[in-house]
Amino acid sequence: MKVFGICGSFRSNTTEYVIENALYKLKDNGFDTELFSCIGKTIKPCMHCDYCLENKKCIVEDDMADVYRNLQEADGIILATPVQSGGISANLAAIMDRTRALEAIDYNILRGKIGMSIAVGGDRTGGQDFAHLKNITYFMIHGIIPVSGGPFGSNLGASFWSNDSLDDIKNDDYGMKSLDRTLVEFEKFLKKYI
Ligand SMILES: Cc1cc2nc3c(=O)[nH]c(=O)nc-3n(C[C@H](O)[C@H](O)[C@H](O)COP(=O)(O)O)c2cc1C
Repeated sequence: MKVFGICGSFRSNTTEYVIENALYKLKDNGFDTELFSCIGKTIKPCMHCDYCLENKKCIVEDDMADVYRNLQEADGIILATPVQSGGISANLAAIMDRTRALEAIDYNILRGKIGMSIAVGGDRTGGQDFAHLKNITYFMIHGIIPVSGGPFGSNLGASFWSNDSLDDIKNDDYGMKSLDRTLVEFEKFLKKYI
């Protein structure tokens, strides 16, 4: 089974550290993994030109090509974002909008896949849950089954407090616990529903 992770950060720093950790653990448990990092990539926003509805492909030729291919191949999808202005990064928002072109090809293309969310905030209460809710809403809209860490904590996904520092996030034990909890549920869902 294949898990595709998207890192919505503009930097090689805390969000990348967390999603690499998640994919490493999944790989160790026998999953094929692939990471798409937005760093150095061009992801233009959706212009709502509707070219995709007529032509079954996006008119914009940029690094979304990689994302399109991996989203189609994946059984599980992890969206990892730095919390920005109490929500997700602009890169990740652009990726979400641009998947419209995939469903122009096949309405059911993402349905039934399993999704999980990672949110990394500079502050402990910086809007991680709002970022999760955006990711989870995206999953719902596209028929992707969202997982949480369960009913006893980490209820919307893996939440980290970076204090804007790679050193500090490495010491965020509670964040790492929330990642591990969510990964347990993610793996269970993948094995049960895929
Ligand atoms: C434009 C901007 C907006 C931000 N807004 C928030 C915010 O609303 N809440 C928060 O907790 N952190 C906020 N941060 C801090 C980042 O979420 C935090 O530093 C995170 O660890 C950055 O991830 P990265 O290291 O992968 O870039 C913001 C950072 C930037 C650059």
